[in-house]
Amino acid sequence: MAATSTAAATPISTALANGFLTQGKTCCAALSLVLSGKVSYPDSTVYNQSLLSYWSVQEETVDPTCVVSVSSSKDVALAVFILNLGGKVFPGECDFAVRSGGHTPFAGAANIQQGITLDLSALNQVTPSADLSTVTIGPGNRWEHVYLQLDALGIAIAGGRVAIVGVGGLTLGGGVSFFSPRYGFVCDSIVRFEVVLPSGLIVNATESSYPDLWLALKGGSNNFGIVTAFEATAFEQGELWGGLILNEISTKDAQFAAFEALTGSLDYDPYAALINSYIFTAATNSWITASNLEYTKAEAYPAFFDNFTSLPQIYNTLRISNLTDFTIELAADDPSGRRQLFATGTYGNSAQMMSDIFDIANSTAQALLNVANLAYSLSFQPEPTIITSKAATLGGNSLGLGESDGNLFNLLLTVSWDTQADDALINTQAKSLFAQAETAAKQLGVYNEYLYLNYAASWQDPISGYGSVVKARLQAVSKKYDPTGIFQTQVPGGFKLFD
Ligand SMILES: Cc1cc2nc3c(=O)[nH]c(=O)nc-3n(C[C@H](O)[C@H](O)[C@H](O)COP(=O)(O)OP(=O)(O)OC[C@H]3O[C@@H](n4cnc5c(N)ncnc54)[C@H](O)[C@@H]3O)c2cc1C
Ligand SMILES: *[C@@H]1O[C@H](CO)[C@@H](O)[C@H](O)[C@H]1NC(C)=O
Ligand SMILES: *[C@@H]1O[C@H](CO)[C@@H](O)[C@H](O)[C@H]1NC(C)=O
Ligand SMILES: *[C@@H]1O[C@H](CO)[C@@H](O)[C@H](O)[C@H]1NC(C)=O
Ligand SMILES: *[C@@H]1O[C@H](CO)[C@@H](O)[C@H](O)[C@H]1NC(C)=O
Ligand SMILES: *[C@@H]1O[C@H](CO)[C@@H](O)[C@H](O)[C@H]1NC(C)=O
Repeated sequence: MAATSTAAATPISTALANGFLTQGKTCCAALSLVLSGKVSYPDSTVYNQSLLSYWSVQEETVDPTCVVSVSSSKDVALAVFILNLGGKVFPGECDFAVRSGGHTPFAGAANIQQGITLDLSALNQVTPSADLSTVTIGPGNRWEHVYLQLDALGIAIAGGRVAIVGVGGLTLGGGVSFFSPRYGFVCDSIVRFEVVLPSGLIVNATESSYPDLWLALKGGSNNFGIVTAFEATAFEQGELWGGLILNEISTKDAQFAAFEALTGSLDYDPYAALINSYIFTAATNSWITASNLEYTKAEAYPAFFDNFTSLPQIYNTLRISNLTDFTIELAADDPSGRRQLFATGTYGNSAQMMSDIFDIANSTAQALLNVANLAYSLSFQPEPTIITSKAATLGGNSLGLGESDGNLFNLLLTVSWDTQADDALINTQAKSLFAQAETAAKQLGVYNEYLYLNYAASWQDPISGYGSVVKARLQAVSKKYDPTGIFQTQVPGGFKLFD
């Protein structure tokens, strides 16, 4: 982290005398005038805590000039107003980043070197409506904090599956939930976004007020404004059944077949959720498989999972428990403080395609045997039409997926490692995996252009993956609400709308 601690004292007059080349200090000083006590600088406890709470080392080691710890939507509105104005007066001096849980792996998605990071962590309200039909949650929540409160009320909302992950980014990028076969993507359940527009105006975007913005935010990430609250449809929810099963790699072909049958099922069980993973161990150049099965009813061993549960196992944690508990279990495998890469693809349902991906991954992983502390895994998740067709009944979303895409599956590659020196090799091998997978998918007739934004690598283009129609619509919404392109250029992090 940077070692300058004098920034707080830099008066605007000095900045002006220096010809405005203040690397954001002028803007930080202006922000501390209106948000007194909420602007922190390198070497302070608050600044350090904010950086340490990113998930990956790549994000944690980006050093913003200051961190603004907002605690209300009014704070966000004031900050955006100042940043907008400041960026007009001193171009390049008020670039900023928007950060909720900070779980995007790549550098700069939710943090910024020589700029201002707005940390939304304190926006962590969880407010059920009086009749429990909706819950309003702040973007700075981690899902564990949300579910602990909802479990106690016997309700749930469609949200993330891993306790530590943030609400803001996950929801604005789509969001895959245990409840997706019942309620669609996480964004599909949002009936109201409270948004701070580039002007600093706070508005509610719903199906009837700012409907174009409401639709755009369901997949459009940080391109339109800063969301300060999400109101989601809630439903009654008791305990669930599920857990983790480990199997020998010798079962992989049976698992690919089971996955294809399940994903293609004409009678998809809406309570079933599956993450089917293949984990590589470099030390022994070998693999094991790990499946997370969840059934969102307190019913043990539902028949829909028989093809998985009947395979010979090494170990399982299958049980009946509450939602919070299952999300804590999933968090155990993803500690923070490591270098991380996510990359993704989407393919038509096909066991042959899964097998091809496995072989490509195994061959590209051979170059990584000497990477210190390598963790490397493939996760396959069903994306059947029972999930992708929900949006159409709920006012739509901006992911560009629907019934006509047929039954799909998502591939997530997760790599973690220790040393920066290995970054280039890991990215090269990952790019090679996805390029070869694309060729194989085209040969098998299962290629799909959709890329899940929340799993995409910095070198992937999920906005284009939404398709040209959705992309053009998102660009038009940006021009309407953000005519000077604050969220395109002054907020450079994440995935942008214009090439
Ligand atoms: C361990 C782990 C488990 C995961 N599990 C799941 C899962 O079960 N389901 C799933 O769908 N995804 C999952 N993901 C992916 C996850 O959706 C993304 O990492 C997502 O970006 C996390 O949101 P965040 O708020 O923590 O991220 P951040 O990195 O803080 O934000 C992500 C992006 O969104 C923008 N953004 C954040 N908040 C706002 C806001 N309020 N207004 C405007 N823009 C904003 C940021 O600027 C940034 O570009 C997982 C990721 C990890 C690391
Ligand atoms: C903040 O972190 C830096 C770098 O790790 C460290 O040198 C410094 O002592 C920390 N300061 C405080 C107040 O925690
Ligand atoms: C749900 O499980 C969590 C984690 O085990 C536990 O802390 C919490 O008390 C449980 N909630 C209820 C309502 O039982
Ligand atoms: C947005 O909606 C909420 C809940 O209905 C309301 O309390 C708030 O005042 C609204 N905000 C604006 C700016 O309209
Ligand atoms: C389980 O596998 C059998 C044999 O391949 C298949 O017919 C059946 O549809 C599968 N069941 C499910 C729910 O996927
Ligand atoms: C992975 O590739 C290695 C090297 O080619 C090979 O020896 C091994 O059998 C492969 N593993 C699997 C599970 O196919």
